[in-house]
Amino acid sequence: MIRVLFVCLGNICRSPMAEGVFAYEVAKAGLSDQFEIDSAGTSGWHKGETAHRRTLEVLKMRSVPYDGRSRQLLVDDAVRFDLILAMDRDNLEGIEGLFKGIFRKPDIRLFLQDAYDEGLVPVDEVPDPYYTDAFLETYALVDEGSKALLARLRREHGI
Ligand code: 4NP
Repeated sequence: MIRVLFVCLGNICRSPMAEGVFAYEVAKAGLSDQFEIDSAGTSGWHKGETAHRRTLEVLKMRSVPYDGRSRQLLVDDAVRFDLILAMDRDNLEGIEGLFKGIFRKPDIRLFLQDAYDEGLVPVDEVPDPYYTDAFLETYALVDEGSKALLARLRREHGI
């Protein structure tokens, strides 16, 4: 079982989108039973809320199912997950800060790292669409990021 957690600030825009799209790619590959997939926010500002209306709209347009609710990142997530993917460097710092002093650390990295390394996207962070309404651009990055991430995990785990 590969346990993957996507993290952004509010857990209503970027990380739910990444969770939904990645889970959809995994399902299309027939690998759902090999993965546990979730998302969380470094803040608890939107705790219990559905994803942002525009995130849900963009996912629906692409037939990606999603019905998760926002939750805050927990110290326990350090042991519950193998791989934690931050949408930007602020999130990365927030995660590292929360997990400071914890002995067992999961692999924590930028979500777009694989796609960026392969030249599939021009940036290694997913800009926050909350203030810009650039949800379609967010989707394009999340789509490339999810495909590149799954391809690497399939190679690494031989699945
Ligand atoms: P997210 O976007 O981190 O991609 O979910 C945000 C959502 C909410 C806020 C900021 C960013 N906020 O300030 O409430």
